[in-house]
Amino acid sequence: QSIIAIVPAAGIGSRMGADKPKQYLQLGQQSILAHTLDVLLSHDDIAHVIVALHPQDKHFNALPQATHPKLSQVMGGGERADSVLAALDYALSIHPQAWALVHDAARPCLRHEDINKLIGSITQYPQGAILAAPVRDTMKRSDVNGLITSTVDRALLWHALTPQFFPIKTLHDNLSNALAANVLITDEASAMEWAGVMPGLVSGRADNIKVTHPDDLHLAALFMAQT
Ligand code: C5P
Repeated sequence: QSIIAIVPAAGIGSRMGADKPKQYLQLGQQSILAHTLDVLLSHDDIAHVIVALHPQDKHFNALPQATHPKLSQVMGGGERADSVLAALDYALSIHPQAWALVHDAARPCLRHEDINKLIGSITQYPQGAILAAPVRDTMKRSDVNGLITSTVDRALLWHALTPQFFPIKTLHDNLSNALAANVLITDEASAMEWAGVMPGLVSGRADNIKVTHPDDLHLAALFMAQT
């Protein structure tokens, strides 16, 4: 099965409050995005990596990975889903039969072990699957005033992580239809769910965090230093 990795990296990272988009912040020896690309580019089953960049991106071409033969760039869009769709458009034009492994630029701690687990789940979940982590805390539902209205059974709750793994053509069509219908789409699985597909959940490492706030940078550095 041919696999194309798609990396939405067109965000501006406003919650980080830094002077450049968070994917370009330094994490040890190189930037967050550089780490993320290394993990994907070095995986033997990934034939190609498509990265979606902000139209005014000023940093990508300075990365050593920018000229890697397995890598292509496309222009991203206003929301994460628009960026993913732009990359899927391109993926469809080069390899319509392949599967897409969509992974956030801001998750540099991904391990090959988890990629292998997700790819290996294809026999169990031919419709596609996502990496996820079981919820650990007690979960509350609130009203708009921040008062607890109920306790939600956490046994059936998961954190949706990336990568998310789906056939390119199906994902492309579902995502583009869901966006046209103005559905709230925050990950690839949401578009598949909207179309009536039930993606599989593959339990992944909890250290595959998304760097969102400044504190996350320290955590990510710690996780990356562990072998
Ligand atoms: O902002 P958030 O952390 O949810 O972004 C998740 C990923 O989606 C990041 O890697 C970010 O660069 C990417 N993104 C994008 N295009 C946007 C917004 C976010 O590619 N318009």
